Amino acid sequence: MQLHEINGVINAVEISGIDLRTADAATINTIKQRIYQHKIVVIKNQPFSDKEYVDAASKFGQIETYFQSNYHHPDYPEIFVSSSVKNKGKKIGVKGTGRYWHCDYQFFRKPFSFVFIRPVLLQGKGRKTLYVDMEQALSRITPEMHKQVYESICIHDPKMKYKIQEGDIDKAIDELIAEVSKLAPPLRRKTVVPHPVTGKDILFMSPGFTHGLEGLNDEENALFMERLFAEVLDEEQIFSYEWSENDLLIWDNVSLIHSSGAAVPGDYTTHRLTVYDDAPGACPDYFGDPDAA
Ligand SMILES: [Fe+2]
Repeated sequence: MQLHEINGVINAVEISGIDLRTADAATINTIKQRIYQHKIVVIKNQPFSDKEYVDAASKFGQIETYFQSNYHHPDYPEIFVSSSVKNKGKKIGVKGTGRYWHCDYQFFRKPFSFVFIRPVLLQGKGRKTLYVDMEQALSRITPEMHKQVYESICIHDPKMKYKIQEGDIDKAIDELIAEVSKLAPPLRRKTVVPHPVTGKDILFMSPGFTHGLEGLNDEENALFMERLFAEVLDEEQIFSYEWSENDLLIWDNVSLIHSSGAAVPGDYTTHRLTVYDDAPGACPDYFGDPDAA
């Protein structure tokens, strides 16, 4: 296994000289440590079949199938499909996913440990994923906001990012909002939470999935979120990864927020798998439980 550091604001690494299909437990453990240390690991030259991809990711822990079936791969529901193309006229997965800043499953009690993504169709150039390190972000917000986030509980709520499905036609907006709120209700969580593996404090919020702080009204929260993320999303703090064929990216979902960035010309399909690390203590049932001691 060879490691090569990728220049950028996040200390990401590229790994070459391994095949995840045949990797043993010791190799998987080494890669896990690298994910927590470097936050983003790129494994080059991994031309998997869909089944091999699922099998390889399952070596890292339990794969969670996404809670909405419209994103599922037709043969492997564990695979979340983001795609601009149809298969024999049939829509597969969802187009234009994640163009806003977020952490996967941030609005559920138990966010994923690892996100795996691989491109299976990549036309044109310039398709990227963007990342910001939310451990580092804590060190550059104003002292006033620093105090506020350490002393607060925040509310995560994904309803404004719900993607309309065929079955939603003819529903009234208020009916749809009520249904989405039932499916993924707003969640209270400590705003700053120690990472379950590294122990480092993480500002666990995002513009996509966090409504704001408990105790502020809607106007105050809109202002607070705008001011906070104007600092957090400083252009110089954004790490940008441009995809190549047969890349596999794995990242620490708790430490980072990510975005698929602006649309670029050309069709694409990406396959995502989301995994709970099976190491003891790596995935508390309620990360950042505000009522815990
Ligand atoms: Fe995502």
